[in-house]
Formats: sequence, C-alpha cells, structure tokens
Amino acid sequence: MTKNVEDYFVPWVKGIPMYISGHIELAWRKPELHRMMSNENPNPPSKKVLEAIQKYGAMSNRYPDQGLVVRSKIAAINGLDGPENVMLGNGSSEVFDNIFRCFLEVGDEVIQHTPCFGIYKLRCQILGGNLVSVPMIYKDHKELVYDPDAVLKAVTPKTKIIVIANPNNPTGNFMEAEAFIRIAETGIPFVVDEAYVEYAGLQMSKVGLIKKYKNVMITRTLSKAYGLAGMRFGYALGDKDVIGQISGALLPWNVGTIPMWAAFAALEDTEALEERVHFNNGELDFIEESLSDIPGLVIFHSHANYILFDAGGTGKTGKDMVKYAEEKGLIFRPENPKHGSEGWFRITIGTKEENRMAVNVVREFLTS
Ligand SMILES: Cc1ncc(COP(=O)(O)O)c(C=O)c1O
Repeated sequence: MTKNVEDYFVPWVKGIPMYISGHIELAWRKPELHRMMSNENPNPPSKKVLEAIQKYGAMSNRYPDQGLVVRSKIAAINGLDGPENVMLGNGSSEVFDNIFRCFLEVGDEVIQHTPCFGIYKLRCQILGGNLVSVPMIYKDHKELVYDPDAVLKAVTPKTKIIVIANPNNPTGNFMEAEAFIRIAETGIPFVVDEAYVEYAGLQMSKVGLIKKYKNVMITRTLSKAYGLAGMRFGYALGDKDVIGQISGALLPWNVGTIPMWAAFAALEDTEALEERVHFNNGELDFIEESLSDIPGLVIFHSHANYILFDAGGTGKTGKDMVKYAEEKGLIFRPENPKHGSEGWFRITIGTKEENRMAVNVVREFLTS
C-alpha cells in the first residue's frame, strides 16, 4: 500500500509553516509606513558600496568564489590569523543554521537567554532539537540583566549549544565579561551573537576568547551597523579547525558575488560605518532622553540600534502602543508579555524625522 507524501516528512519538520515576518511584509506592502521594527539601518548603502554592487552585478553570470578576499579582510579587522578563521553566511541567520546543523541531533538541547532573537528557536526546531529558554532577571523593575548562573544551571548532558546575544536583542545590554569565561569553560559549543557590537565598538567583542576556547564561536552580520540587511551577509569567527569543520556543512556558493563584494566595500568604507554609528548613537540618546520623563515608562538603555520599553506602569499595553503607532504611520514592534507586564514594545532607530515622529507618538499615547 502506498503512503501519503505527508507520512514521509520527518516529524520535527512536519507542520512547521514558512517563516513570514508579518511586520516586514507589511512594510513592503505599504511603503508609506515608517519602518521602525526590524533593527534595520535607516541609511542607504554608501556610494562605494553601491559602486561595488553595480560592478559585480555586471559579473552575475559567473559563480562566486569562496570569498577569500572578504574573509581575509574580516580576519584582519578582528586580529585573527586569516580566512581559515572566518565562515561566511547568507546573513548571520544562515550562520546559526549551519552551526546548529553541525552540533545538534534530534532531542539535543540549545540554551538561549530570553527575551532574544527568534532565529535560534526556529533553527533548533527544524533539526528536532529542544530549546531551553532561560529568562533574564527584571532587576528592580528597571533593567533586564543576564543570569549566567541560571544559564549554567540549565546545562544537561544533552546541551549541545549555548547561544548568547551580546548586546542582546531586544534589551540592548551586554553580559559581564566574567560570565563569558564561565560559560566558555563548560566546553560546550558557545555561540556569541554580536550582530550589533559595532554600535558600541569592536573593543566590546568577545572575539579574543576564541584563541583560548576552541568551543567559542562569534557571529556577526552586515545587516545592522553596516546597513546591508537586504544583501544577506553574515559571518562566524572561530578556531580554524572548528570553522573548517562547520564550513564543510555549508551549501556551496551560499553567498553570492554581489553580497560578498558589497560587504567587502562596506568593511573598507570605515568612514561610512563611523557616520552610521555616530548617527545611531546620537539618535538613541535623543529618544531615551526625550521619553525619560513619562511616568511609569521603563526605558532599557541600549547599546544597539533599538530601544526596548515597558509601558506597564503607564497602564497601557505594548500591543495597543504598536497599534496606535501604526495608525499614525509608524511600524513599532510588540513584545510578548513577561514579568507580569503587558507593556513591552521595541522601537528601531529611524531617520531623524522618524525618530521625532516616534517620540511624539509614544508621548501622545502613553500620557493620554
Ligand atoms: C541578535 C540578532 N542576531 C542576528 C540577527 C540576524 O541578522 P541577519 O540574519 O540579517 O544577519 C538579528 C536580526 O535582527 C538579531 O537581532
């Protein structure tokens, strides 16, 4: 008797829907709305990057190489020996996917620290892994802090990956240095997601750990401070043996010629990066300061390109805040209720004009 095709799907993939980011779909469908929801860079690529895109676009009939030039550049920026310490991905999302595929078997565990970026969960699920979420601590109802003790306590013989974003999305803060050592010392593959580190500067990076701890891998992306989210370019840094092994699981030609050379141009264009970081950090201060007097509003001081808020104390919900903002033409990001509050929402730094609109909309709604 023939079986239905459905019966052939592996159980851990069955029923998982295509990942669709509703707010991104909305933004493309309604370009009149202001995109303050996906931690994108509001500034378009620099002239040098656009030139590279055009130049290599004209060579799109050719297959890309393995990215030796851009990998060497990334290694040099990070004080590493060479391209053998760098693996490229179609965005850092693919980098996580490749790392997870190399370490996880069905039933294995990944530890993440919540709230955090959603991709870790998705990539774990698709492999039949079990995600263990360790909540951050809401300290004095003022800041969400990392809880490395709880992360270490969550380790079991099935733990195959610990992933920590630093700074974290959506909280925008860094974990204390000593906690990295404690987690690294477990020997468990430890992924430090540094998607936003350039906003605070590379001196905050944990890349130095990979020389001592072979199990530590750093992930980065050009989607944020470099402003190339649509190009899809990310990378992992690590010990050469580990990077070599993980690279063995890569899809051939996973990163196209255009993203590779656009990334190279962006990495070379240090002035454009500085401008973007400077702009972001100034606007971040502006928003934080402008809203600091709203009674009951908790603002989470951020080192990235977004700010998390808990409006629970104002009596309003984050969901209603996001709805109101959309009526006013701005897309914000809701956050799940947690720590007894439904007031959570997140704003991505936009253009100067957008940030001023956002400040007005938040004040209007939360003080009315
Ligand atoms: C913490 C964190 N890591 C990684 C990413 C993924 O970036 P990409 O796949 O665009 O490189 C994001 C995107 O928002 C993020 O917030």
